Amino acid sequence: MPHRSTLSSAIVAALETANPHEKAHATRDIVAAWRANQFNELGRTPPPDRPARPVKPTLLPPRGVPRRRITAGSAGRIALLHAIAHIELNAIDLALDMACRFIGQALPKDFYSDWLGVADDESRHFLLLSDRLAQLGAAYGDLPAHDGLWQAADATKHDLLARLAIAPLVLEARGLDVTPAMIEKLTNVGDPDSAAALDIIMTDEVGHVAVGKRWFDYVCGLDRLDPVGSWHRLVTQYFHGDLKPPFNIAARRAAKFSSAFYGPLAERDDLVAPTR
Ligand SMILES: [Fe+2]
Ligand SMILES: [Fe+2]
Repeated sequence: MPHRSTLSSAIVAALETANPHEKAHATRDIVAAWRANQFNELGRTPPPDRPARPVKPTLLPPRGVPRRRITAGSAGRIALLHAIAHIELNAIDLALDMACRFIGQALPKDFYSDWLGVADDESRHFLLLSDRLAQLGAAYGDLPAHDGLWQAADATKHDLLARLAIAPLVLEARGLDVTPAMIEKLTNVGDPDSAAALDIIMTDEVGHVAVGKRWFDYVCGLDRLDPVGSWHRLVTQYFHGDLKPPFNIAARRAAKFSSAFYGPLAERDDLVAPTR
């Protein structure tokens, strides 16, 4: 039976859902409907500039979020899992936004299938971490969270190539670099269940970087742009953090993301003297 709404109107309804569990389940339902060919049309409903969020967690500037060490006690592990759950919730919004905002640019059906697949993974990741937090006696919303994660989405909302350069190929690629050390720490403090959750996430995230790279290359091809030079230009223009080594070169390579992209920019940062 065909879906009553268009793909874009269904996505916008999910983006405008504030409750994170409802958002994750709504997203999974959209992806299942897409895979069952239940949408007759993409539609042209524009996504909101800022997706709906729950009242809790309180959002703080990045430097205002307290850091805690991962120890055998649960407080540090809860803080880590909470911070990652927050990233996953943002990642649901980012993937949904990607599958909706650029309708009209005559992208192939695979583009939507890929980003909806990412949105489905991010929803699973959020729910997995929520379950793990519940097992530790906590819940998403209990702690303050980082308010800076939507900035990159906002800065690139008018430019698909810039969005592809930053969201998957800077931010998600960074996850590949830092997650293995977290898995190791969680294992070392005797929390194999949290380590296993992060292991699932890590495997899926390699796929997300690969999807980002696939579509970055595709859009460069449409415009006859050099992918490496274009990525350097866009990252310099839109990303104001550092590309911090050490990189997880093996995981990045598994995503077909070669060091020809990120190597030169990391060197540039090493060469530039700190300004403060
Ligand atoms: Fe994720
Ligand atoms: Fe991801």
